[in-house]
Amino acid sequence: MTSPTEQSTAVSTAPPIAVPKLLYGQKALVTGANSGIGKGVAIALGQAGADVVVNYVDGEDAANAVVEEIKKSGALAYAQQADVSSEDQVAAMFTRMVKEFGTIDILVSNAGLQRDSAIHEMTLEEWNKVLSVNLTGQFLCARAAVGEFLRRGVVPSISSAAGKIICMSSVHQEIPWGGHANYATSKGGIKLMMESMAQELAPKRIRVNAIAPGAIRTPINTTAWDTKEAYDALMTLVPYGRIGEPEDIARAAVWLASDQSDYVVGTTLFVDGGMTLYPGFATGG
Ligand code: BGC
Repeated sequence: MTSPTEQSTAVSTAPPIAVPKLLYGQKALVTGANSGIGKGVAIALGQAGADVVVNYVDGEDAANAVVEEIKKSGALAYAQQADVSSEDQVAAMFTRMVKEFGTIDILVSNAGLQRDSAIHEMTLEEWNKVLSVNLTGQFLCARAAVGEFLRRGVVPSISSAAGKIICMSSVHQEIPWGGHANYATSKGGIKLMMESMAQELAPKRIRVNAIAPGAIRTPINTTAWDTKEAYDALMTLVPYGRIGEPEDIARAAVWLASDQSDYVVGTTLFVDGGMTLYPGFATGG
């Protein structure tokens, strides 16, 4: 039996990320890839053989470190500064990617942030910031990626699909979250944006899916896990009894981006240790 303190620093005991080069020859863009889930996903895509654009908005050094890590696995990578909520910056990011890598096969729309506030105190700026980065940013990147997928079409030696989009959502596309109405609204929006795009684009052999992480140990939610009290409280919401690690999401992303999931279209894959299972009802109700 480990104590909660030991648990809070323990890492996942799940197996290492799959080594086969499932994504060999593919070109990937991961937004918000300089930290947290995006960093884990970008490194895993590189390990799976994809060349990766590491997007960031702040934190150039961290982005460059991710690039170096990806290069260790033999893939190409470079860092790209761009605010995903800026139409011009997104356009410039895709123009450069096509110039450097020739095309895009995989978009992981991961960039996201929180600006938490009680609803009666939430400023319009806090509301707009979260919606524009988390939701509009995913729209802008998807629009640009789909344009390139349609132009290029399927290249059978690379993938069965003309392109893959993975929208990073959250358990809060389902679970209402008081004090975070802007964030939950953005994730609820991602759900129907993803499903609508998936329905529209499946006939073009473009697969659009989402991952809904639960509580993952990243900088976005440090206060939820960095003390014993916080970690213990968090665990009342996680039936599986541990916090998630970025690698838990990275494994799911590699699979969803690969032809291993070729018949998976318009699905949200919850990677949450059971957080969406209403754990309070295990003993209550
Ligand atoms: C949020 C985290 C939170 C988790 C579970 C995520 O989408 O960004 O702050 O810990 O959901 O509630």
